[in-house]
Amino acid sequence: ADFLATVAEKSDGAALRGDYTHADDQYVVTQDWQAYSEAEHELWRKLYQRQAALLPGRACDEFIDALHQMKAADGIPEFERTSEELFKATGWRIVAVPGLIPELAFFNHLANRRFPVTVWLRTPEEFDYIVEPDVFHDFFGHVPLLFNPVFADYMQRYGQGGLKAMQLGGLDNLARLYWYTVEFGLINTPEGLRIYGAGILSSGGEVEYCLRKGTPSRHIRLDIERCLRTLYKIDSYQESYFVIDSYQQLFDGTAPDFTPIYEKLKHLDVLPANTLLPGEVELLG
Ligand code: PHE
Ligand code: FE
Repeated sequence: ADFLATVAEKSDGAALRGDYTHADDQYVVTQDWQAYSEAEHELWRKLYQRQAALLPGRACDEFIDALHQMKAADGIPEFERTSEELFKATGWRIVAVPGLIPELAFFNHLANRRFPVTVWLRTPEEFDYIVEPDVFHDFFGHVPLLFNPVFADYMQRYGQGGLKAMQLGGLDNLARLYWYTVEFGLINTPEGLRIYGAGILSSGGEVEYCLRKGTPSRHIRLDIERCLRTLYKIDSYQESYFVIDSYQQLFDGTAPDFTPIYEKLKHLDVLPANTLLPGEVELLG
């Protein structure tokens, strides 16, 4: 699940997809795995196979290794099984949710090391593109990196930071960091740039696009304050990708109190998604 679309798109009060009638006060439901149809399992297998074939040389090793360990190729997985293994690895659990959830509930889950995963799967017509996060995006895209201890700690801290940002009027800023790291982040490795962002890793087209030379998109070193000012695209490939050197860099960079940053940014203009500031270096040459 994401809170970003709630922030970005659902401000118009449009109806959310998914059945919220049985959700508890934290928006948690039971997955009801038996209820998935064979056609849905088949669609999952196709999505999985297409995506898994694109990963070598593009996705980071942490993602590929954990994905294989999750053994989720054969159909829509039972969350509980992976949740047990995830808990053993990093103390995180998966909880099932009906779809997009309000930011307060979302941050609360993250702050308590629970990752909300949407139960429903897209339709065949949405094979290549889907607006709202479904079980494929949430499970395939987000869960593997939660097996990495440092990234897992970053996600918890992000949840705590989200709760704080809500108090401080910093949510628009902090949401950009989620977008440009958790969803669309790239990492520098000795073998070259690799993808760790779930929004890219669950997308058929952007996995290839984001590492292609000669596109109009930027690939620049992550500077957190700069990132917090940068607008993002919700309906096209990203015009900027922010590159980290390590998950430790994310964890350490988000340790300081953001209160003064939110204050400062209230007096600065936001930056368009395709900005390249003086002194910034394009990392894809
Ligand atoms: N440390 C930040 C603060 O004090 C919160 C934060 C944590 C932001 C993790 C991003 C990621 O507000
Ligand atoms: Fe997501």
